[in-house]
Amino acid sequence: MPQTVEIAFQGLKARAQSTAVILVEPNKKLAGWAKKLDKATGGQINRALSSADFKGKARTSLDIPGIDDEQIGRVVAVGVGDVDELEEKDWVMLGGMIAGQLSSRRVRSASVIAECASVDTGKKMAPNAAALAFGAQLRCYAFEAYKADAKNDESRPAVLEQISFHVGDEKQTTADYGALDAVGQGVALARDLVNEPANRLGPIEFADRCAALAEVGCEVEIWDAEKCEEERFHSLLAVAQGSARPARVAIMRWNGAKSKRTKPVCFIGKGVVFDTGGISIKPAGGMEDMKGDMGGAACVTGLMHTLAARRAPVNAVGLVGLVENMPSDRAMRPGDVIDSRAGKTIEVLNTDAEGRLVLADLLAYAEETYNPKFMVNLATLTGAIMVALGREYAGMFSNDDGLSGDLSDAGFATGERVWRLPLDKGYDKLIDSKVADMKNIGGRLGGSITAAQFLQRFVTDTPWAHLDIAGVAFDSPKSEINPSWGSGWGVRLLDRMVQDKYES
Ligand code: BES
Ligand code: MN
Ligand code: ZN
Repeated sequence: MPQTVEIAFQGLKARAQSTAVILVEPNKKLAGWAKKLDKATGGQINRALSSADFKGKARTSLDIPGIDDEQIGRVVAVGVGDVDELEEKDWVMLGGMIAGQLSSRRVRSASVIAECASVDTGKKMAPNAAALAFGAQLRCYAFEAYKADAKNDESRPAVLEQISFHVGDEKQTTADYGALDAVGQGVALARDLVNEPANRLGPIEFADRCAALAEVGCEVEIWDAEKCEEERFHSLLAVAQGSARPARVAIMRWNGAKSKRTKPVCFIGKGVVFDTGGISIKPAGGMEDMKGDMGGAACVTGLMHTLAARRAPVNAVGLVGLVENMPSDRAMRPGDVIDSRAGKTIEVLNTDAEGRLVLADLLAYAEETYNPKFMVNLATLTGAIMVALGREYAGMFSNDDGLSGDLSDAGFATGERVWRLPLDKGYDKLIDSKVADMKNIGGRLGGSITAAQFLQRFVTDTPWAHLDIAGVAFDSPKSEINPSWGSGWGVRLLDRMVQDKYES
């Protein structure tokens, strides 16, 4: 289990812990709780702030130890900038920053006086305190499953165990936090799956983690390789055939809408538990990162957990294709022609372009079986997307302006941003094959686009978006809310899109 912080909400009058965080706005006098403490200590807080020239600028902080109060021993002042300007995602970041400040100061337990995040200024303010707590939860994630000595390691930053947020409306904030807590759990699950090394998380183990979603109320179906064969998943199986570890497909359903018959929204993830490249083997340098080549499947699994855990009023289905891409005497070869569920044949010219082979069968199956409102697939699909966009935006390809607009909006709201790139018939000829219906690579230019064109050939008329998350799923820049190699990217984005646009 990941290391997480225990979060509680209390009223502003409740007794605070000995370490208290106060939020300071620029050019504003201390108010409320902080003002009272300042008075009780003969002006100690204000004196410390002014002698350190602390102005409450965003992303600054000041440690004030030795407080003369029987309850409070230490105050950490955190600058919040102008509160009226803060959007929800800024509150989330601020919560992460506070948790980071506390843990780097080796604090185990603290009270955060979130008064300015819970005062009603006419806007909807109650959720801000919940967003603050959510950010702290995201920041406190740690993957320490295999650090046997972690508990005894003195050099390791102390782990923050507990935070109480003191807020104006304790009941409302607790209620607001409920849904965000579910999102945090989904993100932690996705991060865990990406961080797990491939020797410990093969297709079978990943499928077991999907099956565990039954505990939150999902219906889960796990296919073994035989069932994949029966369902004519030839293209997915061609990737798996080089590995001693057999393929799995996991299908997770959450039926939260009033009627079971309401069309579902559908998410599909690439779950290559390790991508060696196969016979077209990758260079050794950095190959270890390919344990994260199931980032798409991790996101879908985390998202399904979230939707179920917060009892989202929507019908949703998540499908993940779980395989390992290995070179062996049984592996597919460059030049092989393989079949697919859709009945289209594929000339495999590079066995390292395997993700699209996994997704092709899943897309065809999902469209035909669920007739979904839309399909979004996520995949660490191409190195080329990092050349184009770096690690700030994921690449988005879509056949539908409405769906891609919804994804862009949710991206800006959450900070998990997507940038649309073109699909166009003109690129399509780059993947035509002389011997089969198509080939699995399109040449040197536009590598992310030709990969997307390939996927599009397995979608007929359902609104669909493909997110190429190779740059953002792992090893992306650490932030106030992400201390982890596996970022859990996409759970917050897609949960938000569903919540804003598809819930009844
Ligand atoms: N999983 C890789 C893409 C990748 C690379 C993700 C680096 C994250 C970090 C994918 O399966 C792959 O190998 N793609 C090839 C495609 C090429 C052979 C057409 C690539 O990008 O080089
Ligand atoms: Mn590959
Ligand atoms: Zn891959």
